[in-house]
Amino acid sequence: MIDKKSPLPMYYQIEEDIKRRISTEEYSPSDMIPSERELSETYQVSRMTVRQAVTNMVNEGVLYREKGRGTFVADKKIEQPLQGLTSFTEDMKARGMTASSKLLVFEKISASPEIARKLGINQDDSIFQIQRIRYADGKPMAIENSFLPESLLPGLDEQIVQGSIYEYVEETLKQPIGKASQIIEATIADKSQSVLLEMTPDSAILHIERNSYLADGTPFEVVKSSYRADRYKFISDIHRA
Ligand code: GLP
Repeated sequence: MIDKKSPLPMYYQIEEDIKRRISTEEYSPSDMIPSERELSETYQVSRMTVRQAVTNMVNEGVLYREKGRGTFVADKKIEQPLQGLTSFTEDMKARGMTASSKLLVFEKISASPEIARKLGINQDDSIFQIQRIRYADGKPMAIENSFLPESLLPGLDEQIVQGSIYEYVEETLKQPIGKASQIIEATIADKSQSVLLEMTPDSAILHIERNSYLADGTPFEVVKSSYRADRYKFISDIHRA
């Protein structure tokens, strides 16, 4: 199984072998993988080499460790294409999963200079701040912090937690959503994020900021969100010009 003469490092070969076992469903999500001692016997390598392979896979989100219990196979990451402007609700539906949310904050506040500029309104104009934990089939995926101008959507209330902001916007304004610009950055979860997202402290997070516009060009939302990096990967098709 492991070719000790190969130029490929042994830990890498072990990772590839474990990934193959996951893809052939020999190991399924939530299964415990063999202990470091067992793996070092199976692959005939030192426990340090095994630990390196397992740690890399934990960092990648393929495996996760539970203190005092062992190492387990993680759920497959959600592959989110970077084209097409879709909502969380639509994304989950397309995957046959159920989206739900927990409302952390619903408040009317005055726009900071930064949010006002991005929403094309005046500083101190009234905006809604809506902070939700987004779940897919009951598992926490992201914390989304949305800012929407009150002047555009005066009737918005806490009931929004039951549904989709995009659906509400399109129905209320009788206008489709047109486009958005998005920035994705890597960060580390702070204490409160790791509690809310049910992650171990210092886990990797994808911080995404999206500024979205109606079809007529009116900005209607700024969203700052934190996605679990072990549950999400973003994919795109790219063409050579
Ligand atoms: C995605 C985007 C957010 C957007 C949200 C709307 O998650 N990253 O920027 O606000 O969808 O989702 P929904 O319509 O389900 O509330």
